[in-house]
Amino acid sequence: MDKDRIGTFANTVYRDMAGAMAIGMGYLGLKSGLFDAMKDGAPVSAPDLSKKTGLTPRYVEEWLNGMTAAGWLEHDEAAGTFSMPAEHGFLLASEGTDHYMGGLFLAGPSLLSQAPEVARAFREGGGVHFGAFDDDWIEALDLMNGGAYRHRLASYWLKQLPEIDQRLAEGGKALDIGCGVGKVSLALAEAYPNAHITGFDPDSNSIARARKTAAEAGTDRVTFIEGLIADLEPDPVFDFAGMFDCLHDLAEPEATLVEIRSRMAPGGALMVMEPRAADRLADNANPLGTVYYGFSLFHCMTQSLAQGGPGLGTCMGPEKTTSLLRDAGFSEVSELPIKSQTNMFFVARA
Ligand SMILES: C[S@@+](CC[C@H](N)C(=O)[O-])C[C@H]1O[C@@H](n2cnc3c(N)ncnc32)[C@H](O)[C@@H]1O
Repeated sequence: MDKDRIGTFANTVYRDMAGAMAIGMGYLGLKSGLFDAMKDGAPVSAPDLSKKTGLTPRYVEEWLNGMTAAGWLEHDEAAGTFSMPAEHGFLLASEGTDHYMGGLFLAGPSLLSQAPEVARAFREGGGVHFGAFDDDWIEALDLMNGGAYRHRLASYWLKQLPEIDQRLAEGGKALDIGCGVGKVSLALAEAYPNAHITGFDPDSNSIARARKTAAEAGTDRVTFIEGLIADLEPDPVFDFAGMFDCLHDLAEPEATLVEIRSRMAPGGALMVMEPRAADRLADNANPLGTVYYGFSLFHCMTQSLAQGGPGLGTCMGPEKTTSLLRDAGFSEVSELPIKSQTNMFFVARA
């Protein structure tokens, strides 16, 4: 055996364990309010931060040490203070923006808490149902993409489809498939004051949260339905349908796509957003690919398999995505030239 290779790989394992611990400490920073308390960037001592937040001094001190070791915070040894660089605060304490990364800190611990159940499924088959995931996962989904939907969906992504943008501006109908907590539907309602939007999702927790947010926003042009596409009224046809971070999760992707196609208005378009993953495993051998295979095992794939679905997985890739759309009878299927590090976008017309 090559001893250097063993040493290098040991460092890889420590690095990855460090990443898992850093995300766990990120969870604590978010839940305790410590990131927010430090977002002004001012140097602060551990006792002063603990006084400011009302949190237990020894926990605050150890968290500051750990986040400094991970490179998330800076420490001035002589002054005995800690600070959050503005560039880190841009990602750590910027909830509601399209650059906030806090959703990942909720996602990591929540997904890993399912490890025993996923291990059981390796032996017995099946999987972990969506409903088994805790509230942190629902919140993580909201935080991971909600800011991008609010700030990019109408102003950038839909500008790639000018005729759809115009129809929605004039009062068109939109369908949000697998709407989750409803942030796509609500972003559409805000950007297109004449449009009517229907969102549906089988998860009752997500729909309850979506309805609550819509009520708080005071919008009556969004209808949230708890259920599957078969539960929609047969009549309305839609100018725009969106499947955001959802196609790869479905238990019946082919049948759902065929049904969506039958509900498209002439000239309407379906936009599909999928995690940015390549078709070849070799091209996914990088940090984002690792994150996405983890998301797949601990959530996307297992919840589809739990329902008897195909378990397409988070890294389904563009080839499989476009072939699913073509097989469902959509024409003019193509990838949209939308810049995003984490997602890719497709359009399909009935
Ligand atoms: C990763 S979440 C994305 C939610 C939302 N589109 C977003 O981007 O925030 C995937 C969603 O698909 C939903 N889902 C699963 N199976 C479905 C089905 N057969 N029809 C519609 N939605 C489904 C899940 O309940 C979940 O809310």
